[in-house]
Amino acid sequence: MKFTEGMLRDDALKGKNILVTGGGTGLGRSMGEYFLSLGANLVITSRKLDVLEETAKEMMAIKGGKVIPVACDVREIAQVEAMWEKAKSELGQIHVVLNNAAGNFISPTERLSTNAFNTVLDIVLKGTSQVTLTAGKDWIAQKQPGNFLNIVTTYAWTGSGYVVPSAAAKAGVLALTRSLAVEWAKYGIRSNAIAPGPFPTEGAWSRLLPGDLVKKFDPARKVPVGRVGEHQELANLAAYLVSDFSAYVNGEVITIDGGEWLKGAGEFNNLDQIPQEMWDMMEASRGKKP
Ligand code: HXC
Ligand code: NAP
Repeated sequence: MKFTEGMLRDDALKGKNILVTGGGTGLGRSMGEYFLSLGANLVITSRKLDVLEETAKEMMAIKGGKVIPVACDVREIAQVEAMWEKAKSELGQIHVVLNNAAGNFISPTERLSTNAFNTVLDIVLKGTSQVTLTAGKDWIAQKQPGNFLNIVTTYAWTGSGYVVPSAAAKAGVLALTRSLAVEWAKYGIRSNAIAPGPFPTEGAWSRLLPGDLVKKFDPARKVPVGRVGEHQELANLAAYLVSDFSAYVNGEVITIDGGEWLKGAGEFNNLDQIPQEMWDMMEASRGKKP
């Protein structure tokens, strides 16, 4: 068995209709593809209809099932409400919402224009809350259970320089997740989050490690297990959390980062840069033979 293989049984998501925001590219696409292979039908949504249509075609050719592409800018409530109605008209009911759409880029914060800061806040926090409220209000009105899975990052709780609007917005999404997990449990609605560490995607790498940065700041070097994530590992975790196997998991954020954020947090973790010979010398100096 390998971590690059699918983990759940083939019918784990049979009969589930799942909405994936940002589902045409990157991690949203990878998670969606796995959901499809476990028997789900999908609505994939983002701003670029041509990308969504191409992805939907490719997904169905490989995995079968139904993939409905719907264009929607999550910052615009009218578009979100229209997208939700279209999703329901195509698939009947939506059982799961995967809030995955995001915007991000690196910059010293003092260089950001107001519009730059707001753009990221609006996509990540306002976009997620608008999709969540639209789906949640409808589920409650229809007396229908539901399941939210929100993609955050590990700096949602540590914060991070140079991606400050993203950090502030993801922290908000994490608070939204935990708050609604409690408030809406009485309606049969669960909310959980995943905090991924570095998983290579075109969207993230082009904006967070542009040009030569990827050579200078190889993300794998910061990860205790010595590598970046494989999309299937994330897809396995996401599939579990959107499935009924996780029915008792609610209000949780699960980190999948190979230990990366803890390495940055632990006071003495950088002592892994000390070579064995130096440890030998230190032992010898306190009278112990290597
Ligand atoms: C500074 C920038 C900028 C940059 C844009 N802006 N890029 N400022 N540095 N690199 C400014 C613009 O000048 C403008 O401000 C404002 O932001 C809006 O820019 P637009 O291009 O008009 O916005 P829009 O077309 O809506 O595009 C949104 C975007 C873009 C966020 C700027 O990058 C995008 O579409 N991103 C979506 C995909 C994405 O970001 N994926 C990565 C997610 S990765 P002014 O003042 O000039 O009008 C992620 C991983 C985190 O979240 C964890 C990793 C480990
Ligand atoms: P990505 O491919 O760029 O995904 C972002 C998606 O969001 C795109 O499909 C984009 O599609 C969509 N989107 C952006 N703005 C939107 C808007 N206003 N309305 C609707 N959709 C919008 O990058 P990714 O790496 O797969 O990121 C996916 C998620 O994982 C994000 O939440 C990100 O924060 C999170 N994450 C990624 C990493 C990583 O290492 N890759 C690590 C931690 C967390 P359009 O351009 O068509 O709108």
